[in-house]
Amino acid sequence: MLRAMRHAGMSVVVFDDLSTGVASRVPHDVPLVTGSVLDAAVLRATFREHAVTGVVHLGGKKSVPASIEQPLYYYRENVAGALVLLESMVSEGVTQLVFSSSAAVYGTSDADLVTESDPTRPDSPYGRSKLITEWMIRDAATAHGLSCMSLRYFNVVGCADPALAEHSGTNLFPLVFGALGRGDRPVVFGDDYPTRDGSCVRDYIHVQDLAAAHVAAVRRVTSGTVNQTINVGCGVGHTVFEVLEEIGNVTGKDTSATVLPRRAGDPASMVAATELAEEVLGWKASLDLTQMVESAWRGASASPQGEPHRFRQKEHRAS
Ligand code: WQD
Repeated sequence: MLRAMRHAGMSVVVFDDLSTGVASRVPHDVPLVTGSVLDAAVLRATFREHAVTGVVHLGGKKSVPASIEQPLYYYRENVAGALVLLESMVSEGVTQLVFSSSAAVYGTSDADLVTESDPTRPDSPYGRSKLITEWMIRDAATAHGLSCMSLRYFNVVGCADPALAEHSGTNLFPLVFGALGRGDRPVVFGDDYPTRDGSCVRDYIHVQDLAAAHVAAVRRVTSGTVNQTINVGCGVGHTVFEVLEEIGNVTGKDTSATVLPRRAGDPASMVAATELAEEVLGWKASLDLTQMVESAWRGASASPQGEPHRFRQKEHRAS
């Protein structure tokens, strides 16, 4: 995100508590302020010292399972954090905001393509923390004349550079790569869903396309007052088995899976309607599943220092 914004000519200061962020990934010529979004004094001082005019808030916690185990931590970090951020922005006259929200606000949807006006029935503290924050932003924008946009991320995968890869995570791609790295079979949570092959359908989007959407959103909130929520996905769904097949094609590894029972809270299908993003942002995702898998595998194969390994020839494991 930082690289994309700078490439677009935007001057940026990074504010991060480094609980998951990596300081060495911030270029030397970009100011890094280490602090918590819950600390109003540091936030307000940062806004003043760096003449901040707008905020891109990516600093929420994002694990659904963790939010179920630690809901109060999630509400504190995500909801109270966003509240302190909004209060600090209003106090210092910072009027522009782009917020990282999530498709998790929809919960389970029967719609083939989910639109921004579809019901929001989040079924995890993570999803609820994102929806509550959207409400706070919308009300603050109305009361204080802020220009705001909340972007509902669908399934973000891939990496722009192996050096920026995320080496942990409870989502499909890192879990499959981890299984393959250990010589284990990947697992599929349920093959009895009402979908084309029985496994869940998701809208995977490359993180580079996501970054481009943020640049477009920053340009939109700075070009005039807006108060809007936008889906950020490809508008195309892939099943879990289709993702596994693509990972096999890219890595040359055998991705035959073990099927386990359904995972609680998994909707059968979650695919974004993308018309509003095209209309309001003039943005559309451009990278396909192969490019997502290639970049993700390159990142997963690289050492934490970012040295990418070569793609391995197809390996066949005795069944
Ligand atoms: C995808 C599919 C699993 C692992 C996430 C988060 C959040 C939000 C939306 C941004 C599901 C299946 C997974 C595995 C599997 N994005 N699966 N075997 O649950 O769609 O939601 O994206 O905020 O990041 O809520 O993502 O990657 O966990 O699962 O079969 O080993 O893959 O059941 O159907 P999910 P996921």
